[in-house]
Amino acid sequence: MTSGSSRKRIGVLISGRGSNLVALHEAAGGENCPYEIVLVVSNRPEAPGLTWAKEQGIAALALDHKLFRSREEFDDQIDRVMKASKVDIIACAGFMRLMTSGLIERWHNRMINIHPALLPLFKGLDTHARALKAGVKVAGCSVHAIRPEMDEGPILGQAVVRVLPNDTPGSLAARVLKAEHKLYPEVLRLFASDQIKIKGDRVSCIDGATEAEDGDVMYSPALGSH
Ligand code: GAR
Repeated sequence: MTSGSSRKRIGVLISGRGSNLVALHEAAGGENCPYEIVLVVSNRPEAPGLTWAKEQGIAALALDHKLFRSREEFDDQIDRVMKASKVDIIACAGFMRLMTSGLIERWHNRMINIHPALLPLFKGLDTHARALKAGVKVAGCSVHAIRPEMDEGPILGQAVVRVLPNDTPGSLAARVLKAEHKLYPEVLRLFASDQIKIKGDRVSCIDGATEAEDGDVMYSPALGSH
């Protein structure tokens, strides 16, 4: 896939820092990447990720959820701006807002999310503190297609990160975040090029045997299998 016009058009939803957005964008600049980021939307006007996107010359829009009368109206506006930019896939990257089932159903299998835990464990907030409290020996992150229930949906990829004896929620979060930055672009690359497919609630990956270790972290699908 070489021509820019055949690349899948990605809209990214953020709420804050935007480090996963940066990772997705950097990968998009790589050779033959099958996707490009055409729009970034933040529900928080002050999000650092939004400023960063503008500095890169990416179309970036603040949609302050507090200015909408209802969740439905906010979600309708998200739908409108994504369609106006001819977005093919919405990638949530630290988007900390629950979405209505109406929006999720309109983007069925075309809206994905990264969550900093090994789903289906530790849905919701404070994942790392809860994981440490539970005494797990491995933690990680998951990229999944979005379904109406929070942090539910077919899992497209995961990275497994060792928990170290002296880990704090902060130290674990930092190691998981590094894995997120590798996993998310790789999964989006495979998903955008139909190498990861969702059939019903099952996910198939064209490469077959798909996990591999990279240093301390196990990735599935394997990184850089292209
Ligand atoms: C990331 O760790 C992401 O997995 C998490 O928020 C962080 C955003 O960081 N997302 C969620 O918790 C969603 N449930 P970033 O803004 O630097 O990408």
